[in-house]
Amino acid sequence: MTDDVKRKFRNALGHFATGVAVITTCGQGKSPIGITVNSFSSVSLDPPLILWSLDKKSDTFALFNSVDHFTVNILREDHREISNQLAKQGDHSLEGLAIRKGSNGCPALEQALAHFECDVYARHEAGDHIIMLGRVTHFEYSEDGRPLLYHRGGYQGLAVGNL
Ligand SMILES: Cc1cc2nc3c(=O)[nH]c(=O)nc-3n(C[C@H](O)[C@H](O)[C@H](O)COP(=O)(O)O)c2cc1C
Repeated sequence: MTDDVKRKFRNALGHFATGVAVITTCGQGKSPIGITVNSFSSVSLDPPLILWSLDKKSDTFALFNSVDHFTVNILREDHREISNQLAKQGDHSLEGLAIRKGSNGCPALEQALAHFECDVYARHEAGDHIIMLGRVTHFEYSEDGRPLLYHRGGYQGLAVGNL
């Protein structure tokens, strides 16, 4: 694929509006980290499985390729700063963010709209990414609050009211 076709492919994919999540984990003896993703998706109810995909070039790749657990934190509409902070190349520290330790040992963002604590169920090769499949061992969600959305390369909010 030429660079021009790649850019157009990304633009085309950007038409699919998504939520925004931060995936957190903690390696043994290492500081906890988080990375912003919009590739999160539900997969299976029984067993409870979710997935997200990680760029093999990410600075976080070596860690996510070796850990046994991670947590998915679904961001609220006022979490743009958190999203940007954890999308910075080479800086995925959770310093300064309100976190607590979940039952899988991974950090969880206090203010997230929902949490999915996972054991790594499988890793699948997928071109320049790996697909991380997680088996959900515990989840929590808030009844109120609105999600941060991502569409065509920018943040959006949910429109008020139903269509
Ligand atoms: C809204 C949004 C969604 C993103 N989704 C993904 C994703 O699904 N997978 C991924 O590997 N990177 C994704 N990124 C990029 C990473 O957050 C990060 O910017 C990138 O990995 C560069 O930093 P690194 O090389 O230190 O990992 C996303 C970034 C933003 C802002």
